[in-house]
Amino acid sequence: MSILSGKNILLGITAGIAAYKTASLVRLFIKAGANVKVVMTPASKDFITPLTLSTLSKNPVYSTFTNEEDDNAMWNNHVELGLWADFFVIAPATANTMSKMANGTCDNLLLATYLSAKCPVYFAPAMDLDMYKHDSTKHSFEKLKSFGNVMIPATSGELASGLVGEGRMAEPEDIIAFVEKDILGKLPLRGKKILITAGPTYEAIDPVRFIGNHSSGKMGFEIAKAAANLGAEVILVSGPSSQHVNQSMITVERVKSAQDMYDEVHKHFNTCDIAILSAAVADYRPKNVATQKIKKKESTFTIELEKTKDILKSLGAIKKQQFLVGFALETNNELEHAKGKLAAKNLDLIVLNSLNDKGAGFGGSTNKVTFITASHDIFAHELKSKTEVAQDLMQQILKQTHA
Ligand code: CTP
Repeated sequence: MSILSGKNILLGITAGIAAYKTASLVRLFIKAGANVKVVMTPASKDFITPLTLSTLSKNPVYSTFTNEEDDNAMWNNHVELGLWADFFVIAPATANTMSKMANGTCDNLLLATYLSAKCPVYFAPAMDLDMYKHDSTKHSFEKLKSFGNVMIPATSGELASGLVGEGRMAEPEDIIAFVEKDILGKLPLRGKKILITAGPTYEAIDPVRFIGNHSSGKMGFEIAKAAANLGAEVILVSGPSSQHVNQSMITVERVKSAQDMYDEVHKHFNTCDIAILSAAVADYRPKNVATQKIKKKESTFTIELEKTKDILKSLGAIKKQQFLVGFALETNNELEHAKGKLAAKNLDLIVLNSLNDKGAGFGGSTNKVTFITASHDIFAHELKSKTEVAQDLMQQILKQTHA
């Protein structure tokens, strides 16, 4: 799956003949799973129609601050458009537009959006060879790069003028490949391996019954997605859960019991850089598992339980370079208990959730957590979606590991 999947791409089109290729570019972004909106300079509409682009992108196309033909026209908010974008790709970028971008000129919607956008900006120049070589154009390239914008260099070939040389806009496939590679290369957890546990464990009583708990696995799956989005290779060891994920960077290993989870986790721990254990592992399991279904006889029935292995503690005992994160679900004396677990299990960070907080803990889609570091720094967070909690956790880990 492409790193662009689920991302918001704002495509800026300026008035060069290469604009005709942006129909393919929009298609390829959509095929990669991105959401696409298009902002055009008014003059670029001579080269490709907004209708084509809105049909392909499945979104309205913006080129003016208001729609002049409509008396009730709404203002096209360039700030919102800029904030919506995860990435702004300007292709083709003409000498004229680049010069304006370099100098802060703001005489159309595309330029106003450029000045408001906070996201990474890519520009793919396209022009005739002498224009491309001109000192003024080179000056624009350098200035834009100094702003942190990323240039997708033009290639050599036959140009619209009939001349042959440098100035052809990179082909749509190459633009996509360039952007994907650039994004991946800049992700802070690129090259790191992260081990995550999620969900409950089921401890068999007999062939049809088990002891389990209400953990849904949501929190662990969200952490896996947040880590993969930062470029990490993720091994997600999950107990029985209805959660699914389809991301090339995430390998899901499904297990049932605490012992299965212990074995699977230990297969991967040596080679991982970070381990985050969010699973709700059973602390006890039936000492003897009946091989046949247990028949009801007496009015009471007792199952003898024995302790399971504490997976997190076992990792704390053998960890070397790994950054180890645990969870603590508490009902009373929360901070004290969490700090106790942090020390007892030799952790670098513990995520505390209290069952006294409404919206925290099992099942739901929200959580309210407090991070406690090994040096007892405490970061309390508001009630948030589990997606946001996972992102906060990854940011906390990045901060502590200086990744
Ligand atoms: N954990 C684990 N293996 C176990 C039990 C717990 O890896 N057999 C991990 C959990 O994934 C979690 C952390 O340990 O990251 C804390 O789990 P929790 O149940 O809150 O704490 P316990 O140490 O089991 O203590 P208690 O149940 O007494 O509060």
